[in-house]
Amino acid sequence: MRSVRLAHPADFDGWRDAARALDAAEVPPEEVVWRVGDEAADLFAGEAPPGARPQGGERRVPRRFVELARLLVCHRDEERFARAYGLLRRLRDEPHLLAVASDPDVARAAQMEREVRRAMHKMKAFVRFRQVTPMPGDEAETFVAWFEPEHHIVDEVAPFFARRFASMRWSILTPLRSAHWDGRTLSIAGGAGRDDAPADDRLEEVWRTYFSAIFNPARLKVRAMRSEMPRKYWHNLPEARAIGPLIRSASDRTQRMIPDPSTRNEPEREPRNEETAMEERASLEGLQECRRCPLYRDATQAVGGEGPGQARIMMVGEQPGDQEDLAGRPFVGPAGRLLDRALIDAGVARESVYVTNAVKHFKFFVRGKRRIHQKPDHSEIEQCRWWLDIERELIRPELIVALGASAAFSLMRRTVTIKSVRGHIMDGPDGASLLVTVHPSYLLRLPDEAAKASEYRRFVDDLRLAA
Ligand code: URA
Repeated sequence: MRSVRLAHPADFDGWRDAARALDAAEVPPEEVVWRVGDEAADLFAGEAPPGARPQGGERRVPRRFVELARLLVCHRDEERFARAYGLLRRLRDEPHLLAVASDPDVARAAQMEREVRRAMHKMKAFVRFRQVTPMPGDEAETFVAWFEPEHHIVDEVAPFFARRFASMRWSILTPLRSAHWDGRTLSIAGGAGRDDAPADDRLEEVWRTYFSAIFNPARLKVRAMRSEMPRKYWHNLPEARAIGPLIRSASDRTQRMIPDPSTRNEPEREPRNEETAMEERASLEGLQECRRCPLYRDATQAVGGEGPGQARIMMVGEQPGDQEDLAGRPFVGPAGRLLDRALIDAGVARESVYVTNAVKHFKFFVRGKRRIHQKPDHSEIEQCRWWLDIERELIRPELIVALGASAAFSLMRRTVTIKSVRGHIMDGPDGASLLVTVHPSYLLRLPDEAAKASEYRRFVDDLRLAA
């Protein structure tokens, strides 16, 4: 028997070094005991020192395996290190093993990976920082959060918080690992107790208000929100006090926002009741776990579309901006306000329109304290078309309005200039009609007031055509 002792519960680097050495020495998985931390006795002290470098050339493994192993070792399954090593050994003779979804080892690994990703998403969404009194002489504001993750994910998720809250000093305390950011360096240390985190502060009210504002049952995400916020997190979330009343009123509010199909003259459509519409919304649930392109890494969350399940018009923008990324709703920032005004001027009720984006994660770079919008590239738009296609399938609009070139590229599957296609109704995907117009942020960027006014009028004319 060989025994490997890893430094902490999700010690991927330690596992990788040991696994390389064991694999080079052809040690079968059943002869390895994986342990964590400094437990006293080591019954099986073995000859395979973790970290020993294999002789000769290193064995190459598929990149997908490295990604998978990285998340597997974060799972709370006690066999996680052994499972990852078992797969590594099998890949030697079965290089395409990971593609065999029916294999029990692969299936279990895939399930563990999904569970870890889900836990990581929850941590990103549900960590709540509370402000604490700074140390004497310390000017920086300091924040502390207490969180109880379902898996050993602190090391994986901490870099996200370091990017997201780069200008704050913060600590995230959890029972097994804690992350600390001093504004420059991220360090990970041992666990902490619930009482090490402050219990209350002035941020509470802000969170509760924010949460009530984003809890909108007409949004595709309402189901996800209910199912993703397990009760066990509620006691750490100030806004959770708002959940009960909001859920109780959700059904009423949804009913009001989804038009009765019987009042609509659309014989070719199957009438759908509220329950069906809600079910359909649920099928966007995987959105928060989406890893189809790298944009999920820095965004706060994916932003799905919003609007009635039976909207006749779907509007597609480019991607969420800074405010949409924080609020989790499309078109709530300056471009959204301009769109609202133009819709009113065109005689279209925004509540009757389903509004979404070609790309669901905010793409940006950081300049000082600001996050500056970056245009998504074609491959990101193509990857995200998966979600737009689902939304089109759920809503089945009669008309899709593409706002700007990115949306037009997504819907027309080719690059077009707005000038060449603008302002007339064309055949769109799956029998819907398509109208292409400018993006409202184009109007916001125009420097000249006269041009702004005339372009705004043209934009309203296009929306009137949609109406
Ligand atoms: N711009 C977009 O394209 N979509 C939004 O949701 C916000 C700004």
